[in-house]
Amino acid sequence: MSQYPGWYYDEFKQIGVNYTDLEEVQAYDLRMQKLRDTEYEANRIRELLKIKNTDLILEIGTGTGELALRFSAYCRKVVAIDISKTMISFAKMKAESQRKTNIHFCNAGFLTYENYDEPFDVIVTQLALHHLPDYWKMIALKRIYGMLKEGGKFYLRDVVFPSFVRNYDSYFDKIITDLKISAGDEIAEETEIHIREEFSTLDWIMEGLLKSAGFCIESVECDGFMAGYICIK
Ligand SMILES: C[S@@+](CC[C@H](N)C(=O)[O-])C[C@H]1O[C@@H](n2cnc3c(N)ncnc32)[C@H](O)[C@@H]1O
Repeated sequence: MSQYPGWYYDEFKQIGVNYTDLEEVQAYDLRMQKLRDTEYEANRIRELLKIKNTDLILEIGTGTGELALRFSAYCRKVVAIDISKTMISFAKMKAESQRKTNIHFCNAGFLTYENYDEPFDVIVTQLALHHLPDYWKMIALKRIYGMLKEGGKFYLRDVVFPSFVRNYDSYFDKIITDLKISAGDEIAEETEIHIREEFSTLDWIMEGLLKSAGFCIESVECDGFMAGYICIK
């Protein structure tokens, strides 16, 4: 971060769960394999965004690389970035074992990645933007806008809190209690850390940030505290 001014946000410092710890990364990968159907997720995003085999895709906050690996079969090239070197090495190993040759991994993030190549057709980020405070989300979204082709698509899926809630204390208590029953203590504990220490924001703030960055929001899908936005440049 030495080339940035002293006031620039250090996105490499870990917020909430420490994703530079290999044990944490391995545990995350196992949990996600148990709880999520990443093949379904990738296919759904592919259909929603109408990804083509000529597309150049950027995935930000790739984590263990599941989405990038699946997209790579259906596009020209994926650039997959993450601020955690451990996550990037883990994802790279998976790609090598699957003989994927059209994924470029890079240790960088929303606020530091520089694209010296052609602009992207599609940019995707899942469960990562909440690591930045709201002002820096705005800077991240403006940078994403700048890296997309005219008419390019941006897909953002993240934890976003709904504004219809009357009592947030009981809302969050119920989320944790329900998660303990449906997904176990570990996920419930991780969610407590998320609410307490990470920077998930409210739906109206997220929509305002996307619009101020220049995006046209084509559709929003909400499922509890998860929201998925398809945006067009
Ligand atoms: C909860 S994981 C999600 C990983 C993956 N996208 C998924 O859906 O499973 C969050 C990821 O975002 C990464 N991350 C955190 N802050 C970031 C930033 N400023 N830029 C890029 N990635 C970031 C973390 O290192 C971690 O790999």
